[in-house]
Amino acid sequence: MQTSQSSASENSLAVVIGANGGVGSALLAELRRENLYAQVIGLSRQSTPALDLLNESSIIECARYLAGLGIPRLVIDATGFLHNGALEPEKSWRQLSPEHMAKAFAVNAIGPALLMKHFLPLMPHRERAVFVTLSAKVGSIGDNHLGGWYSYRASKAALNQIVRTAAIELRRSAPNAICVALHPGTVDTRLSAPFAKAGLEIQTPAVAARCLLEVIAKLDSSHSGQFFDYRGDSLPW
Ligand SMILES: NC(=O)c1ccc[n+]([C@@H]2O[C@H](COP(=O)([O-])OP(=O)(O)OC[C@H]3O[C@@H](n4cnc5c(N)ncnc54)[C@H](OP(=O)(O)O)[C@@H]3O)[C@@H](O)[C@H]2O)c1
Repeated sequence: MQTSQSSASENSLAVVIGANGGVGSALLAELRRENLYAQVIGLSRQSTPALDLLNESSIIECARYLAGLGIPRLVIDATGFLHNGALEPEKSWRQLSPEHMAKAFAVNAIGPALLMKHFLPLMPHRERAVFVTLSAKVGSIGDNHLGGWYSYRASKAALNQIVRTAAIELRRSAPNAICVALHPGTVDTRLSAPFAKAGLEIQTPAVAARCLLEVIAKLDSSHSGQFFDYRGDSLPW
């Protein structure tokens, strides 16, 4: 991969969705420090306007807000759901529940698909533009050797298919635009906290954000529709 930095034209925007999450807030801070875009915008359920993946109207409102500010040249979706107080990743099919599966698919696959629906059309059609969604290596079917985590794995695999499909459609109207899935590595956030075992290589959010932005800077249109990790290595679907 060659390094290709974004041009910081007057109206260029970098946008992070899930800007209050562990990786999302580190990406926001790093993008602001790098200062490559005229504005760096963070969106979340707590921002104004607020963006809730489970509410398409809020996504439409945020898209309108961005269109009024400038041209998004980089959009990073750093949202995701693995567990909450009531739902834990399944160890066995015995623990499968429709509610858990529906929640995982709503946040990890359908929500990001709606972000693509409303944000990809705002991005430049002729120049380089990058849409990134944070997926997870455990969403890789080819790399699944351990089993478990049905809802999270399946919803991230669905997300990967949506990235691939959107990239094919995007190429037709915006040949220099890029749509990829990135795995951030194991990062010390509230999502990973209950599962952080001794011996596992765990990165700080700041390090993960720097790695991800380095990978993003090196992407070109030939990489669109693919799945990479935070080192830029290609991952199997
Ligand atoms: N941490 C890891 O080790 C790891 C490993 C592999 C992949 N990932 C992926 O990396 C991404 C970032 O994860 P993280 O570790 O930073 O987790 P995190 O700290 O839990 O952040 C998750 C983000 O998703 C947002 N979110 C959840 N439901 C939402 C909804 N309905 N609408 C809008 N936003 C919503 C959260 O917002 P609220 O604060 O409003 O809930 C939060 O900003 C995820 O896609 C995750 O699957 C992480």
